[in-house]
Amino acid sequence: MKTLVFGSLNIDLIFPVDHIVLPGETIAGGDLVKSAGGKGANQAAALAKAGLEVYLAGKIGQDGRFLLSLLNSYGVDTSLVAEYEGATGQAIIQVDRGGQNAIVLYAGGNARIAAEEIDRTLALFGTGDILVLQNEINRLPEIMEKAVERGMKVCLNPSPYDEKIGSLPLDRVDVFFVNEIEAAALAGLPAAPPPEILEALVKRFPRAEIVLTAGKDGALYGHGETRARGEIIDLPVVDTTGAGDTFTGYFTAARARGLPPGESLRIACKASSIAVSRPGAMAAVPAAAEVF
Ligand code: RIB
Repeated sequence: MKTLVFGSLNIDLIFPVDHIVLPGETIAGGDLVKSAGGKGANQAAALAKAGLEVYLAGKIGQDGRFLLSLLNSYGVDTSLVAEYEGATGQAIIQVDRGGQNAIVLYAGGNARIAAEEIDRTLALFGTGDILVLQNEINRLPEIMEKAVERGMKVCLNPSPYDEKIGSLPLDRVDVFFVNEIEAAALAGLPAAPPPEILEALVKRFPRAEIVLTAGKDGALYGHGETRARGEIIDLPVVDTTGAGDTFTGYFTAARARGLPPGESLRIACKASSIAVSRPGAMAAVPAAAEVF
């Protein structure tokens, strides 16, 4: 069983700030840090650190080559990441004193995935293999449909959530990873308590496993009649960037290793709690020995 992440690779430019800048305001940031990110790359790093055989497909410019070396050092196979003449995706990230963030994305290579790259990549995967997707690359509907045709298991983290999510073949998704806002949008509900949104999603997508992260309130799981809950670990919050990516990677890896939903939630909550206690996105993903 192989795991493919078809997703974004970003250069994260992290600005520590006193507070997230307000409209019309100019503020001074602390020391600027350039580091590795992108939801796809972060999730691939978490999956590899958690012990799975992981392949990452996507697109970068020359300026993003350092991302590949780093991902390789975690055990991610990056031979399916293409290079083009333009720039790698970038994320301008403000992180305030409480560890909360605000992110502006420049898509770069993430928005330039070509049809033939999808075919070439998916040809290497088949029944029983896992595909992990987020919403930071182009041609997602095509990737999902072709992966389903090949018998792959599709895990979707519809983040960042936008109107394009509605045009995806959502009924073909096997596992959804959503935060409270994404869950409410997917369920077509106004904000409501997480357990209520979970029930709405279980009803709306009966074949899918629903994994709902709720920040300090941990995470919930629903599928058929099965329900489970995971608690976060109380650690100081330094930087929440990439915590959801760590969660997705560790939950997927735990399930792939045969663990039941409740135990997988416990592991993913522990991994993401450790991640928020450290600065950065990919750099904050813990090693398996710290989590399992
Ligand atoms: O989920 C965190 C990630 O979102 C960051 O690494 C940034 O690159 C954006 O894609």
